[in-house]
Order: sequence, then C-alpha cells, then structure tokens
Amino acid sequence: MFIAHVELWRTYWESVSRPYTVFICSLTAALYYLWGRKCQTPALVSSKAFSVFLHKHCPVVAECFSPTPWCWGGRLQTLVCALLKSRPRVTYRNELIGTVDGGQISLDWVDNQSSAAYPECSTRPTVLILPGLTGNSQQSYVLHAISQATRRGYRCVVFNNRGVGGEELLTPVTYCAANTSDLENVVQHVKGLYPHAPVLGAGVSLGGMLLLNYLGRKRSDSGMVAGLTISVPWDAHKSSASMEEPLNWLLFNKYLTSGLCRAVTRHRKMLEKVVDVDYVLKARTIREFDERFTSLLFGYKSCTEYYHDASPYKKLPNTAVPILCLNAADDPFSPQNAFPLAIVQSLPNVALLLTAHGGHIAFLQGLFPRGESYMERVFGQFVQAVFEHPKDIMKACDIKEEKLS
Ligand SMILES: *[C@@H]1O[C@H](CO)[C@@H](O)[C@H](O)[C@H]1NC(C)=O
Ligand SMILES: *[C@@H]1O[C@H](CO)[C@@H](O)[C@H](O)[C@H]1NC(C)=O
Repeated sequence: MFIAHVELWRTYWESVSRPYTVFICSLTAALYYLWGRKCQTPALVSSKAFSVFLHKHCPVVAECFSPTPWCWGGRLQTLVCALLKSRPRVTYRNELIGTVDGGQISLDWVDNQSSAAYPECSTRPTVLILPGLTGNSQQSYVLHAISQATRRGYRCVVFNNRGVGGEELLTPVTYCAANTSDLENVVQHVKGLYPHAPVLGAGVSLGGMLLLNYLGRKRSDSGMVAGLTISVPWDAHKSSASMEEPLNWLLFNKYLTSGLCRAVTRHRKMLEKVVDVDYVLKARTIREFDERFTSLLFGYKSCTEYYHDASPYKKLPNTAVPILCLNAADDPFSPQNAFPLAIVQSLPNVALLLTAHGGHIAFLQGLFPRGESYMERVFGQFVQAVFEHPKDIMKACDIKEEKLS
C-alpha cells in the first residue's frame, strides 16, 4: 500500500514536474534574454574629447537602450513605429521661396514666438529639419523632433523636398540625395532672415544623406553650427542591396517605390517634359525608380554614378562642424557593413552612436512605444547641448570658432 502510494506520487510528480521544469527554464531563459537585450549601452565612436562632451551634456549616449520587448528585430521596430507612433500636434506657418531655376521650395516654420528662453526672434536658435525619402513636415518623426525643440524654446523650420510639400512643381526638378543646391538656398534664406541665430541641421534617412553631402561640400562655410543625422544610409549601393532582399522588398521597398511613383503621377504634366512617365511608373524598386527618374533628372550617366555621388561616408572628412549620427545595427535601410567606423575614428568632429536594435527611424522603447523614444531623447539632448554649450562643443571637436561662418 505504502509502496504503491510512493509509486503513484512519483509518476504524478514526473508527469507534472517535467513540463513545469521546462516552463520554468524557458521563462528564466526568456527573462535573461530580455534583460540582456535590455541593458545594452550603445557604442559611441568618436574622439575622446567629443565623447567627454557628449557624456556631460547629452547623457542619453551612456544610457542603456532597451528596445520594446515584444518588438523583435529591426524590421518589426520599423513597421510598428510607422503604425503606432503618436503624432504631436504642430501648427506650421508655410512659406514658399523661389529658386534661380524658376522653381519653388516649401518651408514649414514653427516660430515659437512664445519662447520663454529666447524671446528675441533674431537670435532664437533654429533647427532645420530634413525629412526622409517621400517624407515631409507631417511625418511623425518630424512632429516629435519639433516638439522636442520647441519645448526647449527653439525655432524649427522643415525643408520639404521639391514636389512633396504639397506645393506645385513649377519646373521639372524634384530632389535627390546628392544635389545640395536647394539646401544651400534654404540655409541662405534662413541665415538672411536671422543672421544672428545659430542653425543646427537635422537630417533623417535621405535627409541625413543630403545634410552630410552639404556639410562636406561647404566645409566651414555651411552656415550651420552642427549637424545631426538619424538612420542615415551611409552607402547607397549597400542600402539598395539590403532593401532588395526579398522580405525587405516586400515590407518596405515596394511601399516606398509606390510612394515615389505617386508623387510622379501627381506632377505628371510637368515631369512628362523630361522623362517617360509611364516607364518610370513601372519601377518595382527604389533603384529602378532612381535609374529611370532621379539619375536622369539630375544629369547622371547612370544610377551607379548617382549612388556613388550620393553616399555620404566619403564626405565626412571634409565636414567642419560637430556632427552626431545615430544608427541601429539592425536597420534594413542602412546596413551596418557600411557604417564608416574607421573614417569616424580619425575625425575630431564626428561621433557615431550605434545601438544594437532600433530599426529604421524607430528606436522604440517601453511596453507601449507610442511616445518619446530613444531617438527623440538623443535629438532633444544633442540640440540643447549644441545651443547651450557652443564654446565647449567647438573646443571638444577641435574647431576654431573664427573659421565658422
Ligand atoms: C515655445 O517655447 C516654450 C519654451 O520656452 C514652450 O513652452 C512653448 O510650448 C513653445 N511654443 C510652441 C508653439 O511650441
Ligand atoms: C543640382 O541640380 C541642378 C539642376 O540639375 C544643377 O543646375 C546644379 O548645378 C546641381 N547642383 C549641385 C550642387 O550638384
């Protein structure tokens, strides 16, 4: 009787304990994994002095970045961010400025006249925001950036690329990542209005390529005191190769290409003068679109030549202002094999902030990642560090102030 009892208990225990043990072990492993993911401090690649400055005035660089636990991988981060992210309310004042070729550029201003920190508008620091491919001032990352900057008392202006800001195309010219003429125009215009207000350029994705190409071309004559890029593709060839992987094509490339095509359809009458619109609209990838449209419009012999010219990593050594670049290693648009680690290590004025996770323009944190994310904190803190400690940052980046204009 007793023996039978023990046997019964043993079988009972074995049948219960095995799944139980497996469950406990998996739970522990999962928690351990999450915890491990949770506490990853991003890598900061920069000179010692720039790193010291950032740790002091932009402490988010030393914080653990914990991606949203249920949001695995760069693709999911990117998708969830696009679907879920909140949209802070922003009221713009639109301004159209003319260009020498007879075109026009649409700027969206947030003047922040009620700024307590900078009541005088002639010296109020200004953040110039450059959105990504097909993006404009209505993108949620732009709205969040504006909310970060205006709450600190700064002014913002969004440079909408030609043809995407809701304005008419007056000439058959749109935009590309390599041609900085429109950005030059915009900076001149902003500096003309407020010559004594410092300007920081902040570029997201393609906007970051444009910004770095501009800063490389203009060197110490850029009219900007600093630059910030988020999820910038460093090498257009490698980015388009990554975007043409089947899953990335299906999730992102296809969608962006149709966005590009929609803009062409919208301005069909004007663009028909210079390209075969029906052929352009058959493009299935961004690269095909750039082959049939962008490189033609901007006088490149081929898309390869355009991508070569547009890739910003080579331009970094010519830049002459402090620049912070935030990228995620799992960004499907900006593969990490193109991160310019060696180049940046040799430069006093550029810092790369690299997270293991975060995707493209996502960097979602917390269980319900609708509000402020890591990327917004980096943006807000860096902008403030630049505007509130101008002498310190110039010194940390080994820049002689009289050289800047
Ligand atoms: C302007 O800046 C102040 C901080 O000085 C902020 O509280 C206010 O909300 C800003 N205004 C707008 C329109 O964003
Ligand atoms: C940009 O493109 C326009 C029109 O094709 C051209 O006139 C201009 O020189 C280009 N600018 C740069 C900086 O490449």
